[in-house]
Amino acid sequence: MCGIVGYSGPHNSVGPIIEGLSRLEYRGYDSAGICLKINGELQILKKEGKLENLKELITGQKPTSHTGIGHTRWATHGAVTTDNAHPHGNDLYAVVHNGIIENAAALKKDLMLEGFGFKSQTDSEVFLVLLTKFHKLGLSTLQSISRAFSTITGNSAFVIMEKASDKLYAVKRSAPLVVGENKELREAFVSSDPFALVGFAPKIYFPQDGVICEGVPTAGDVSLNFYELDLSPSSRYKFQTNSMALDATSKGPYEHYMLKEIHEQASLIDKLAAYYIKNEGRKVLDGLSGFSSDEWHVTACGTAWHAGLVIKNFFEQINRQRATVDIASEFRYRNPILRNKEIGLFISQSGETADTLACQELCKENGIPTYAIVNVEGSTLFRNADKNFLIHAGVEIGVASTKAFTLMALTGYLMSRAMEKTLDDPSLFGEMKLLSARIADLCANSEPIRAVAELIYTKKGFIFTGRGKYFPIAFEGALKLKEIAYVHAEGYAAGELKHGPIALIDENLVNIAIVGPELLEKTVSNVEEVKARRGLIVVVGPKDNSELEDLADAYIGLDFEGLPNLSPLYVNVALQFLAYHIAKLKGTDIDKPRNLAKSVTVE
Ligand code: F6R
Repeated sequence: MCGIVGYSGPHNSVGPIIEGLSRLEYRGYDSAGICLKINGELQILKKEGKLENLKELITGQKPTSHTGIGHTRWATHGAVTTDNAHPHGNDLYAVVHNGIIENAAALKKDLMLEGFGFKSQTDSEVFLVLLTKFHKLGLSTLQSISRAFSTITGNSAFVIMEKASDKLYAVKRSAPLVVGENKELREAFVSSDPFALVGFAPKIYFPQDGVICEGVPTAGDVSLNFYELDLSPSSRYKFQTNSMALDATSKGPYEHYMLKEIHEQASLIDKLAAYYIKNEGRKVLDGLSGFSSDEWHVTACGTAWHAGLVIKNFFEQINRQRATVDIASEFRYRNPILRNKEIGLFISQSGETADTLACQELCKENGIPTYAIVNVEGSTLFRNADKNFLIHAGVEIGVASTKAFTLMALTGYLMSRAMEKTLDDPSLFGEMKLLSARIADLCANSEPIRAVAELIYTKKGFIFTGRGKYFPIAFEGALKLKEIAYVHAEGYAAGELKHGPIALIDENLVNIAIVGPELLEKTVSNVEEVKARRGLIVVVGPKDNSELEDLADAYIGLDFEGLPNLSPLYVNVALQFLAYHIAKLKGTDIDKPRNLAKSVTVE
């Protein structure tokens, strides 16, 4: 979603801003812009489309400016146009915004009646006009920001620069925001993501909601000030040194980040095992033991929700502990029953997904502990959780999540094993090793999956089916395919097909049937039902099963042996390859699929 980078200091702001925005490109956006202060005037350059378009504009002008704010926009209010791109500015202020102003329509109407004009269709411009209005009433910039911020509703982060000074201002409510400083170079920074500031700002600060941040560069120093909305000094921020690394930004020998990230999974599983399981499993799992719950309330979105469904199976089957899994945007509005001795478990790669964060807040308000399975250390979810289980996936650049899914589910598996009475099971380490070896083998021999993709990529629709532990994988396989190949794909419980979706089956529809060794006969009957209706069948099943191979139009044979718990994750990697190859044959933008954002910070 929207990316924000701001700079103020003695050097040219254009370099760090554009570098920061390019690091955030993977999150998805549809226009980009920058505001610079040139000869004392605020000058805005913006363009719809890729950051490249903005770079071309900048190259033409070669601007130098000591203060600037940049933005990549993912449209919410108003079409994808250059006018709607950020920053929005006038002769007093320029503003970039991430989030949604929920009362924008009413405010805009009132402001127009008061004689204020608007240049865009965005909700964001309402904040600029409010600032301007309060300034014209005689308020200082800090006072105007406070008033404007208190007037709007909804979750948002704003960064503001002004014609009158080289200061940067920022404020947020339930949206990611980080400010940073480099004392040595006398530079102040602000961003929606600490990743944009790696190498620029060694010290970073995460303000809490409603804290106004002010970056003030002076001749010999730089200072960051924090204020409450009543403009008294605030200490409601968290300081951290920026320890993130940039190594993930290279694709290495791979054509796409997604392909790189699929291949990384085997070694990341080994690292996760080494991180959590000490002494090859003969010792208590580090950091994971000592909890149980009367009921787990698992909430997440998209792929993370699918990981939640896998984890529910672990908690129920291995631990016999109750777990409900909800889509975050549903959980928060359905007045869930939350009781003592229950735990809210939130799963998120980014740790910034607005709906997931809202569920965490809801559980906190109801006094139940909140645990997080999360990738980004220092993210909002991480900071607000009572207990964190990091998945250690490194930065995931591909918008379609691959490695994060595997590591979220595996982290849940380790939690589940840690809840067992016998923690000192040496077979656990071996099981993880076997999974990583099977995935490595699949990565080294993915050509047969590419051949299957070639056979089916022109088809109009895909139904993924699975039973039991493979049911969530049917969802995830379908989601991956629709995200990157732009084809209709659905995940279904294999046994549910005949209760409706079977009506869709004809020679243009492909059934990707996951047939694990468990419930094999029952799942095969479901495949037969599709076959009888001339549907094209791709079976992902146990290798060397000639009967199944004969039944299928195409067969992806996998070695399920020795993976009674973890085979769904292995199957899923095969489906990641299938989606990847279909998308490649269709020529889509695999790493940045249309309309998608990596981190969904609006509800
Ligand atoms: C799918 C995908 C999304 C995310 C979802 C949650 O490939 O990437 O469905 O899984 O937006 O994101 P996080 O995990 O960051 O909360």
